[in-house]
Amino acid sequence: MNLRQFGKFSSAIERVDRLIGSYNAAPLYYDLAFRVASSWGVSCFNYGYAPLSADVSADAACTEPHQLEMYRQAAVAVGAERFRGAVVLEVSCGMGGGLAYLARTLGVGTAVALDRAQPGVRSAHNRFRLPAVKADALSLPFSDGSVDVVLNVEASHVYFGEPFLSEVRRVLKPGGHLALVDSRDLTPGGAEAYMRDNLAPHRLRLTSFRDVTTNVVDSCVADSPRREALLKRVPFFLRPPLRPMLGVEGSSRYECFRSRKTTYFISTAVAE
Ligand SMILES: C[S@@+](CC[C@H](N)C(=O)[O-])C[C@H]1O[C@@H](n2cnc3c(N)ncnc32)[C@H](O)[C@@H]1O
Repeated sequence: MNLRQFGKFSSAIERVDRLIGSYNAAPLYYDLAFRVASSWGVSCFNYGYAPLSADVSADAACTEPHQLEMYRQAAVAVGAERFRGAVVLEVSCGMGGGLAYLARTLGVGTAVALDRAQPGVRSAHNRFRLPAVKADALSLPFSDGSVDVVLNVEASHVYFGEPFLSEVRRVLKPGGHLALVDSRDLTPGGAEAYMRDNLAPHRLRLTSFRDVTTNVVDSCVADSPRREALLKRVPFFLRPPLRPMLGVEGSSRYECFRSRKTTYFISTAVAE
């Protein structure tokens, strides 16, 4: 392949990557991905966090330790004690592995998994025995003030905005907490201001913002052998567009984090 062909190939892959992240195309991608991934024992779909804590490293049940570490870090940011006995709703739970880990380790009262992809909801319910519901993040089927903690991991970029945030605020109890983990093509300062400014009109006050881009880069490197092994199981022509989705070392998405074009963050807010 010459340089020109390579350029066209890379921009085609970037277009596919952008399409997969769009509101209308995301369900198709995740429907398919979760169907396949559940038969491979995968239960989480995020870029992960490194280094691993002693809690996660020592837990033999953690087969995707970097991904679960990301959930642990989100819980620590909210305050792990706030999960004990609480009603915790994960909006966009994926296959439910992350929420199940927090429910198992933090003594959550009721952990509810919600996703728009039916195979994800099925996995959360059948594999992890979580109450799970198929619904859209823009229309949460819960009553006002019924949730102590809303979790949202690596999903909001698909639907972030007024409808989502007003739904989060509506279902949260006053004094309840939101943990939102995601990335934006902004500097760390820009991403923090973006979060604060978007949350404030919904009476969600930003309480912490942590730039964890370096931790995500380190996780992508440490976890690349596992991701490469997963890629080997899909037909060869699907591997190029999936490499960035999985954040494999050297992929375009990995480079966005490594070059700091994109900031990956853990943010928390309190409902006022
Ligand atoms: C990158 S995955 C993250 C899954 C999970 N949080 C994890 O870390 O394993 C993004 C998730 O967002 C979900 N999603 C995308 N758009 C959605 C929407 N409008 N409503 C609910 N979930 C949505 C997808 O189905 C997918 O499960």
